[in-house]
Amino acid sequence: MLKVNQLDKTYGQDKHSLKSVSFTAQPGEVTAIIGPSGAGKTTILRSVNQLIRDDGGQILLDDQDIRQANKAELRKIRHHIGMIFQNYNLISPLTALENVLHGRLGAKSTLAGMFGLYSTAEKTEALALLTEVGLKDYAYQRCDQLSGGQQQRVGIARALMQHPKMILCDEPIASLDPKSTKIVMDILRQLAREKQLIILINLHQIDIAMDYADHIVGINDGAIVFEGPTEQVNEAVLQKIYRQSADAKVKVAANES
Ligand SMILES: Nc1ncnc2c1ncn2[C@@H]1O[C@H](COP(=O)(O)OP(=O)(O)OP(=O)(O)O)[C@@H](O)[C@H]1O
Ligand SMILES: [Mg+2]
Repeated sequence: MLKVNQLDKTYGQDKHSLKSVSFTAQPGEVTAIIGPSGAGKTTILRSVNQLIRDDGGQILLDDQDIRQANKAELRKIRHHIGMIFQNYNLISPLTALENVLHGRLGAKSTLAGMFGLYSTAEKTEALALLTEVGLKDYAYQRCDQLSGGQQQRVGIARALMQHPKMILCDEPIASLDPKSTKIVMDILRQLAREKQLIILINLHQIDIAMDYADHIVGINDGAIVFEGPTEQVNEAVLQKIYRQSADAKVKVAANES
């Protein structure tokens, strides 16, 4: 289980981006973080992975506090956290298979990684994962020759190659058409169920969150304003999550005076 407790993040002196953020995400479930632009969704995901250092709180992954980990421990923990990005973050001249194999990098010695030395077992596994996401026939195709939806599926296979406990997805479908969106979201939900992964997704699309998430975390202006099962999200909850941010209010107040 992922348990975030009272996480704080301030950028610079006064930009309070996360205000005592607490929530949980369970294995086997899709948890969606929703909220207006600038609310702090990306900041939460990047803190969970410690790509940015927050200012205080606890991030417990199966009871280990990621914030307290030393460099070596953090490397180990990160290896079991997959990341999926809006822009896929693939290495374009490389094939789909090579990109998936890159998911093993964190587990290899620097030298083996540098020379791209992968075992037959690793190659077999990468191919099986590409098959799992429906891309068996594209394994040897260059990634820049794949559609957005296909590239995102390569990204998912690469994350799976890390044998993750948790996959963090920052707007994974923002650049995709409805058909690819459905394919990608179906895969993510299935992974949660079948592999008992923690799937934590930042989403702009409320309808997709409502269709696919088991658990919703609503954030507005750096503060969690709702957390609960998707069935509990109603119009009043959505209004609370999407109400004007503090910045917008300041602007309105300035215009009124
Ligand atoms: N490196 C940074 N330096 C200063 N402020 C930052 C930095 N990164 C983010 N912020 C601020 O922190 C707040 C939260 O940003 P964040 O990117 O987490 O929002 P978000 O909810 O992901 O928005 P979006 O939906 O547009 O992706 C915003 O006000 C943003 O301007
Ligand atoms: Mg964001």
